[in-house]
Amino acid sequence: VGPDVIDIRKLYGQTGKFTYDPGFMSTASCNSKITFIDGDKGELLYRGYPIEDLAVNCDFLETCYLLLNGELPSPEVKKDFADLVMHHTMVHEQMQFFLRGFRRDAHPMAVLTGLVGAMAAFYHDGLDYSDARIREIAQIRLIAKMPTLVAMSYKYSVGQPFIYPKNDLSYTANFMRMLFATPCEEYVVNEVLVRALDRIFILHADHEQNASTSTVRLAGSSGTNPFAAIAAGVACLWGPAHGGANEACLQMLEDIQKNGGVEKIGEFIAKVKDKDSGVRLMGFGHRVYKNFDPRAKLMRETCYEVLNELGLGDDPLFKLAMTLEKIALEDEYFVSRKLYPNVDFYSGIVQRALGIPTDMFTCVFALARTVGWIAQWEEMITDAEYKIGRPRQLFNGYTTRSVK
Ligand code: ACO
Repeated sequence: VGPDVIDIRKLYGQTGKFTYDPGFMSTASCNSKITFIDGDKGELLYRGYPIEDLAVNCDFLETCYLLLNGELPSPEVKKDFADLVMHHTMVHEQMQFFLRGFRRDAHPMAVLTGLVGAMAAFYHDGLDYSDARIREIAQIRLIAKMPTLVAMSYKYSVGQPFIYPKNDLSYTANFMRMLFATPCEEYVVNEVLVRALDRIFILHADHEQNASTSTVRLAGSSGTNPFAAIAAGVACLWGPAHGGANEACLQMLEDIQKNGGVEKIGEFIAKVKDKDSGVRLMGFGHRVYKNFDPRAKLMRETCYEVLNELGLGDDPLFKLAMTLEKIALEDEYFVSRKLYPNVDFYSGIVQRALGIPTDMFTCVFALARTVGWIAQWEEMITDAEYKIGRPRQLFNGYTTRSVK
């Protein structure tokens, strides 16, 4: 019984021990075969394949297949899987009316949380999740319809007509078309930009038991509808300490830029070091990586490719980010705490260059992470040791007292 290990008998008169571990710093909540992270080495593997290998040699749908099924697909299987997913990209027409109930200036993550939850009301494939076919159709619907829902939320927010899916395009090209095309002109696919967004999807597809994935597992452990469990994941991802970080990071860069740019980085860093300011360097630090985030290295590369393709090499915000990165990587405060740039430090810059508005960044993340949430939900539901998640607490409120 250490300082954080409480003898439960003293508290509840029961046998056994429990650990007090706020933030799950050292508590595993499940067994998993999906994603492996070695935070000290800066290593990330999906089903045993290094992220660097997948980012260069696979596309997002192959990565989805791998996460869901444990193996990479053969070319024939890949084609069948892509056809199946693309066949399900349309959403129920009635969902438009649900969407139209939101204010147009609502945050897209608020809208997306609602839309994904509402899928439970639109798709009644069955409630017996011990049936693999019922689980599979829900999974395919989620992967297929997420790009359509994200694009619809965006079009609604800017008052433009919805663009319906075009299923002979790739998954990612179709998403970009639904996001950026208008009915008045032909949408031209730029393969360099499609590949960049596809890489963002691959890098964000899964990340073992992060907050949103743990939320999906906990919600799903009650046996709830999978669309409802994934909606819980979307809600959790929204927070600035998690998926909202790339939005927060870009806002931080824009604020520094507005207030004097590169010249003001020193002042900003001083504010970050002052704990009373409550200011953090967004896009830096990670609960698990105490070395460079391997996804950040790949995203940094993509950042250069996209900016070159678009002739934005001199983009002042990008230059500001690179200077900030250099200063922070040499600063004792960040070095001693092992705070390195995470994937979000660069992914916001890439998305901005692609033309994705800042408040849509977390929706793009949710789109990509959907497959990870589903794979983890499937693994949990089919685990023989599967139990409802029910954390204990260390009660420190009043013991029994009376009103009179
Ligand atoms: N800026 C300044 N200081 C930081 C930062 C940061 N971004 N991150 C951590 N620290 C400091 C803390 O103040 C603390 O200092 P102390 O030891 O003097 O008290 C120390 O580093 C450890 O910080 P914790 O908060 O304990 O680290 P934790 O593992 O709980 O937090 C987190 C990880 C939430 C990601 C944090 O680093 C953070 O807030 N980063 C900024 C937000 C961000 O980029 N999130 C994206 C995560 S990646 C993703 O979701 C894809």
